[in-house]
Amino acid sequence: MKPLRKAVLPVAGLGTRFLPATKATAKEMLPVVDKPLIQYAVEEARAAGIEQFCMVTGRGKIGLVEHFDIAFELEATLRERGKDDVLKMLNEQALPPGSIASVRQQVPLGLGHAIWCARSFIGDDPFAILLPDDLVLSKTPCLKQLADAYQQTGGNVVAVTEVPHEQTNRYGILDIGRDDGRLVEVKGLVEKPDPKDAPSNLSIIGRYVLMPEVLQYLSKMERGAGNEVQLTDAMAKMIGKTPFHGLRYEGERFDCGDKVGYLEAQIAFALQRPDLSDAVRKFLVKYRE
Ligand code: UTP
Repeated sequence: MKPLRKAVLPVAGLGTRFLPATKATAKEMLPVVDKPLIQYAVEEARAAGIEQFCMVTGRGKIGLVEHFDIAFELEATLRERGKDDVLKMLNEQALPPGSIASVRQQVPLGLGHAIWCARSFIGDDPFAILLPDDLVLSKTPCLKQLADAYQQTGGNVVAVTEVPHEQTNRYGILDIGRDDGRLVEVKGLVEKPDPKDAPSNLSIIGRYVLMPEVLQYLSKMERGAGNEVQLTDAMAKMIGKTPFHGLRYEGERFDCGDKVGYLEAQIAFALQRPDLSDAVRKFLVKYRE
């Protein structure tokens, strides 16, 4: 089994639900407390053993790549001012030279199309996908849980969670076979099914470990839900040909592409911070109905 060392971060979407914030800034640069979403995703991937990163960017998104550069002038100023703690923090977060690449998706034709744009980077290797707007608060980083499951099962592994039955039309939904309460065998996948047609209420979240064969199906460029090239449709074609599992991950997921999910994430992550939790608890009491 090939080791999992590569991750693709699709960040070329338009982020229309966050306008006007996303007019000139990428949605994935929005901070939760004091760290942008993209950085949470990269740190989670590194904690899962990922060594090479590829961002699929689009127009106006170059800041996402630049975020991982070394800011010489800033660092010199911090040094001059004796801000050693901040410098140390920035140095610890720096990525090794050459570990981050980017490709362009000129038109946002869907998540499947974004992944296909990274085909040269993926080559013949297994790879992870992290959607930075899905943020998971957990003891073990979510992608690490997936990488461990991949060691056990091989093949495709996707992170899954139960969603309210009436909301299945917002997510990629699993048809499931064997289920040990943690790992489920994937028998089918449907993108955004109507609740009355949904085979279950287990939904895929934005963390995947996929085999490179998915590119063959993506290259057909078939349009699915919303007239977009859907990753779910290409993954569905691999069922029966390669092992395919869903992992009920441990942790709480926040959909930061949605306003309420984003606000919840701010509170939940701030409450984890020793320097902020007391102040946040106080103001939460103030706003209690
Ligand atoms: P979303 O559908 O949540 O993002 O895609 P969006 O289109 O940017 O947001 P809204 O719905 O208009 O508010 C999930 C992830 O996939 C990327 C997005 O950048 C996001 O990280 N994506 C989506 C692409 O890279 N390319 C696409 O064509 C579509």
